[in-house]
Amino acid sequence: IKNIGVLTSGGDSPGMNAAARAVVRTVLYEGGKVWGIYDGYRGLLDEKMEELTSRSVADILQRGGTFLGTARCKRFMTPEGRMEAYENMKKRGIEGLVVIGGDGSLRGASKLSAETGVPIVGLPGTIDNDVWGTDYTIGCDTAANTIIDAINKLRDTASAHSRIAVVEVMGRRCGWLATLAGIAGGAEVVLIPEREFDLDDVCANLVKSYENGRRYSLVVVAEGVGSGIDIGKYIEEKTQMDVRVSVLGHIQRGGSPTVQDRVKASQLGEKAALALMAGQTDVVFGFNKGKVVAINLHDAITNKKPLDPEYIELADMLV
Ligand code: F6P
Repeated sequence: IKNIGVLTSGGDSPGMNAAARAVVRTVLYEGGKVWGIYDGYRGLLDEKMEELTSRSVADILQRGGTFLGTARCKRFMTPEGRMEAYENMKKRGIEGLVVIGGDGSLRGASKLSAETGVPIVGLPGTIDNDVWGTDYTIGCDTAANTIIDAINKLRDTASAHSRIAVVEVMGRRCGWLATLAGIAGGAEVVLIPEREFDLDDVCANLVKSYENGRRYSLVVVAEGVGSGIDIGKYIEEKTQMDVRVSVLGHIQRGGSPTVQDRVKASQLGEKAALALMAGQTDVVFGFNKGKVVAINLHDAITNKKPLDPEYIELADMLV
């Protein structure tokens, strides 16, 4: 395959630009043609795509977001929409696609490939780190660092006022970001969807630790367990302590990617381009124990990634 398209889809994540840049430059280096498809799958339907040059991806490595734009596209979720997308690719001679996105985007990619036979290689682009088969997803490291920066600041003010700081972090149904934030931010409590908890017990323990001399507390809430605001209210009523809630929101999605996200996204982008050009399809490239691995696309979208119990234990132990 010599003529390929690249798109980013679903929630943007820092490092998507590095991945797309690596795809573009690898394809060009190998003598192929590469098309940038704008606004995710919607760009395939609205025919928003153009051929890219090496210069098209200059000066984006250090930027968060995605220069290609992204979207969650309803029309593409129907078989008719996917067929139309395929026809628009064919018109331009685009023979295969690199799709950079989270599990929803990879699911769409798998359907497109099954229904039209178009070769697809996926890259896991999401801050949530919830794609099965890979230890790493593009953007999670940057998001975790953003959360820690916020937590460091919240600690200053929580400690000054002897308050409980409740921080709601993203992650959709996955507690990975919250667990990382718990370990790296030294949280006293981490509430994640992967583990049941009793909020009354949490409150009792918070009171106990104050009685034992703790000056202030940090509670990290994964958005997947519910609203940080509601949980904060409950804790305040139950403990009769001063609680402040911060919902970090989309701040977590932006920002200049970390070195890890730039390097790993570049490695994945290169592998995706080479694999697609060599005729591979229905694979997702990710990392396992520090090495790039190819994951079957069907497996990646049908299995649920478990949260490493060792991380949960560590967060608990270091309180
Ligand atoms: O999947 C990435 C993510 O940031 C989740 O953590 C969050 O739940 C969701 O996207 C937010 O989506 P949107 O940007 O559409 O509000």
